[in-house]
Amino acid sequence: MANGISSTQLAEALGLAGMLGFYGAAGQPLEEVEKAIDRVQSGPAFSCGFNLINSPSEPALETALVDLYLRRGVRLIEASAYINLTLPLIRFRTAGIRRNAAGEIEVPNRVIGKVSRTEVATRFFSPPEDKFLKELVSRGELTPDQAGLASKIPVAEDVTAEGDSGGHTDNRPLVNLLPTIIALRDRLQERHSYSAGLRVGAGGGIATPEAAAAAFMMGAAYIVTGSVNQACVEAGTSGIVKKLLAAAEQADVAMAAAADMFEMGVKVQILKRGTMFAMRANKLYEYYRAYNSFGEIPAEMRAVLERDYFRAPFEEIWGGTREFFLRRDPAQAERADRDPRHKMALVFRWYLSQSSRWPLAGDESRKLDYQVWCGPSMGAFNEWAKGSFLEQPEARDAVTVAHNLLAGAAALTRLHALRCQGIAVAPRLARQEPQTREQLSRFFA
Ligand SMILES: Cc1cc2nc3c(=O)[nH]c(=O)nc-3n(C[C@H](O)[C@H](O)[C@H](O)COP(=O)(O)O)c2cc1C
Repeated sequence: MANGISSTQLAEALGLAGMLGFYGAAGQPLEEVEKAIDRVQSGPAFSCGFNLINSPSEPALETALVDLYLRRGVRLIEASAYINLTLPLIRFRTAGIRRNAAGEIEVPNRVIGKVSRTEVATRFFSPPEDKFLKELVSRGELTPDQAGLASKIPVAEDVTAEGDSGGHTDNRPLVNLLPTIIALRDRLQERHSYSAGLRVGAGGGIATPEAAAAAFMMGAAYIVTGSVNQACVEAGTSGIVKKLLAAAEQADVAMAAAADMFEMGVKVQILKRGTMFAMRANKLYEYYRAYNSFGEIPAEMRAVLERDYFRAPFEEIWGGTREFFLRRDPAQAERADRDPRHKMALVFRWYLSQSSRWPLAGDESRKLDYQVWCGPSMGAFNEWAKGSFLEQPEARDAVTVAHNLLAGAAALTRLHALRCQGIAVAPRLARQEPQTREQLSRFFA
């Protein structure tokens, strides 16, 4: 989860309990990501990975992050938001590839691809494209022998099929997506005869024992959760957000205009209850579609934007935004100087990006503008936890939550097997009550 919401504390708690967490590097400055690497590498040893989000509008950022990961010996990344794969991603995967004494191909770096479309899953489960390998050889990053080895391995041995989830999502139902990606995996494994098997995990919508059991029964090799982790004590966000999340019901989510790829009309799934963000963000997109400059927007609407959204005159926000872009990506600022519509888009994107910072800081004065990424699984978890100790945000530690999902899924799978043999299972027995960490410790010694 971006902006360090998936914090090193969250990754550490899960890692020490034998699970796998990922540091949420998206949206973080490189120095912050490096500090996170320091924390992970200096503490007790545990498995964890780092997120690498595709940044088509800022390719230099992706390159710099991969440089950092390679320099600091990060060995596992979760690659997300890709449509086409990129050179930095392939560089990460193939760096250090070699044949060992037994003649097997050894690849030090692993990629878990997160997808919601078959064509993207195909790219992850296939060997790296030739054009990337040639480029890496010509840059001296790979030897021709290494490129030969790289053409025999998949970019990712693990792909997570992500259904309707918090944040960026295609809103695909997991029950449809997962079997499709599993079937694709089998076809590609047959086509390429990889020595190591390919795995498909499931994410999006999983926050109850029932959902976890369903994913495993459908053939998922592992499950991924996001929204419910954000509600846990270890998540890198404020207590106010965790309280809002604890009150969410399944229908309390909405799609709202995203800060990245705003102009393309991309949307993210967010928490609707308790905020006006969805309505405000979508209004900004409407104005962007309808008008060629801020000045073209009718005066009374402009006044509302300056009073309620920006809380400052448009030109004042533009001043700060321009300076930001002159440092980070000068071409954007220069284009906005020439093109008033682009200037309006950058100011609107200022609001959309600040709105995901206010909840992290717990800025009460901006509560109505909180942009909290969240999927319907959050409401499903709250419904399941109702009346138990897990109703309280302070009691939601990531390991207790995850162990409940896993132990509950195992119990449900056994009960289902009984049902399949014609044994009537009382609904009371099928209900998986939330258990404390101590109660669960007998399963997870
Ligand atoms: C607050 C938040 C931030 C997220 N940020 C990212 C991200 O930066 N990169 C990414 O790959 N997925 C991100 N996701 C998606 C999660 O990693 C996960 O795949 C998803 O939340 C699973 O679905 P669920 O929300 O139903 O549990 C984010 C999700 C949330 C809720």
